[in-house]
Amino acid sequence: MTPSSAPSSWRDFPIEQQPVYPDQQHLQTVESQLCALPPLVFAQEIRNLKHNLAEVSRGKGFLLQGGDCAESFSEFSANKIRDTFKVLLQMAVVLTFAGRRPVTKIARMAGQFAKPRSADYEEIDGVSLPSFRGDIINSADTDPGDRIADPERMLRAYHQSASTLNLLRAFAQGGFADLHQVHRWNMSFVEASPSKQRYLKLSERIEDALAFMEVCGVTSQTAPTIRETQLFTSHEALLLNYEQALSRIDSFTGKSYNCSAHFLWIGERTRQLDHAHVEFFKHIENPVGVKIGATTRADELLRLIDALNPRNEPGRLTLITRMGADKLAENLPRLIRAVQKEGRELVWSSDPMHGNTVKSSSGYKTRQFDDILRELRQFFAVHQAEGSYPGGIHLEMTGEHVTECTGGAYRISDSDLATRYLTSCDPRLNADQVLELAYLIADAFIHVQPEPSP
Ligand code: PEP
Ligand code: CO
Repeated sequence: MTPSSAPSSWRDFPIEQQPVYPDQQHLQTVESQLCALPPLVFAQEIRNLKHNLAEVSRGKGFLLQGGDCAESFSEFSANKIRDTFKVLLQMAVVLTFAGRRPVTKIARMAGQFAKPRSADYEEIDGVSLPSFRGDIINSADTDPGDRIADPERMLRAYHQSASTLNLLRAFAQGGFADLHQVHRWNMSFVEASPSKQRYLKLSERIEDALAFMEVCGVTSQTAPTIRETQLFTSHEALLLNYEQALSRIDSFTGKSYNCSAHFLWIGERTRQLDHAHVEFFKHIENPVGVKIGATTRADELLRLIDALNPRNEPGRLTLITRMGADKLAENLPRLIRAVQKEGRELVWSSDPMHGNTVKSSSGYKTRQFDDILRELRQFFAVHQAEGSYPGGIHLEMTGEHVTECTGGAYRISDSDLATRYLTSCDPRLNADQVLELAYLIADAFIHVQPEPSP
């Protein structure tokens, strides 16, 4: 695989949110090094995910996507990876049971490093500095030179992603993900929760189901699906130099796959139709997502859908709506109707995080648990009212006990935010908040979803 065989047409298009690399020769050297490195994921896995998402688009599965807003070089440890994976597994059990559908899990991990920014410069202590664009690009430190884009960071991000993925694969297949164990963790969460009574009934029903299966001989020893799981990876494909360098031609199909992750998405700020990110996505076979804000017009959305999924292939495209709890009910229905009228096959997923970011009185960027829950509930309700299928959720979350979003059963308040505010970008739901969310939407799930068609 030479650099020239990867999709490079995006370089002829206008592009937003990219760093300026002062040393172009150095950049090219790093791109060639990345091209020569092994792919992080394998094309057949990517096809498997596309198949799962096609099932989701037909109402026969559910998508759970979550992880950090931004991974970082300094906050990188086995425990952190384990804890986020653990919480994803716990949520998936609750949602599988409540929705009566298989849950496809995609982590925002092993590559989620590059961040779009609202301005090219930011002011820190009265000094104007180039914005921090994520550890794959520059440093968040503020010494002179820290903010200069350094291509070597792409290699470091690649190697960190490779070790993250290695551990995730070991956890998924080595016994950590055993359904009985995951259920025990859920029971401990429920026992300790101030909202115990609310969640207990669902957990007891899961307990009964597992006991029944065991009696029928379906155990960790007899059934790999009880013992093992599959976790896919994803990130925002923002830094196209990196994404191109990790694209490979699949020897079975002769087609181009981006092998930096299974699933890639385009952010709200870089999804212009005639720009580089949409152009790049046209040349990769992966399942892809696109973020959709409240101001999106129906005609604009249909053009975007046609650009990204011209063959109307089920599983190829996921629309990730991020409208804000106050704006969803007014803006989502017209988009759903346009998609239905034109018969487009896709997955609708809800990101209830990015439309609900506020500044707390203590000065922190935060999100309120109730706003997040409200956007999710409305997402389910609007889809039900329109006869459409709410196929997934997309969360910024961590398995750690951080204090970044306010509210939840433990009532994190503005004044608690300073205690453990660790994110290197947006505020994340912590382990308790995110599990609570799973139990709370499980209720909505049981009531609003149409039965899958046979
Ligand atoms: C993100 O998912 O971290 C993000 C930046 O989202 P959006 O493009 O929707 O703002
Ligand atoms: Co974010």
